Amino acid sequence: MKEMVMSQDEIQSVCQKLGSQLTQALIHEEKIPLFVGVMKGALNFFYSLIPNVKMEIFTDFVETSSYEGTQSTGTVTLTKDLSFSPDGRTVVIVEDVVDTGLSMKYLIAYLKSHYKPKRILICALFNKQAMRKEEVQVDFSGMVLKENKFLVGFGLDYRELERQLPYVYVPEEKDIQEMDALLDQDKAI
Ligand code: IMP
Ligand code: MG
Repeated sequence: MKEMVMSQDEIQSVCQKLGSQLTQALIHEEKIPLFVGVMKGALNFFYSLIPNVKMEIFTDFVETSSYEGTQSTGTVTLTKDLSFSPDGRTVVIVEDVVDTGLSMKYLIAYLKSHYKPKRILICALFNKQAMRKEEVQVDFSGMVLKENKFLVGFGLDYRELERQLPYVYVPEEKDIQEMDALLDQDKAI
């Protein structure tokens, strides 16, 4: 049996809960808030979350990279910048997981030094609090994880696989071996 961390139904109810919290927090904004999804991991979450935000918003995406397999490399780079100006408006960064906090810290510092957002809020499907190396305040968390678990599914990948799954689970050693074997055969990455 797979260790399920968030089922398809739970994902839907978490997105409804976060959507209404965000709507409440943003409804009185003067300028239309900008929701920024962090590619590729947060895309599934992003598009399940925003139908639950009951107000006008703008959307945009950035891409950061730091992970190799199941380990964070610790070096973060921005591989895709914003296309929409966040100046003067509230930015909501939508992230799949905040783990060590390194990517989020880098992204916040990048946005603050290159643009003039009114404020930046963080919304993460998973908040792996125990793994923090950098202090990051997650304003809206779908689920807080106290233990270190490597998660796969619903945008979260193992070596680019299994982002398409409609749920999130913890792969066992044999699942990892099967994915490694598939990738060896495919030779794409
Ligand atoms: P951090 O910089 O260590 O906070 O991690 C940033 C990114 O690593 C997250 O946005 C994810 O894309 C990825 N990541 C962290 N934990 C996991 C996981 O359990 N499974 C898959 N990807 C993860
Ligand atoms: Mg991510």
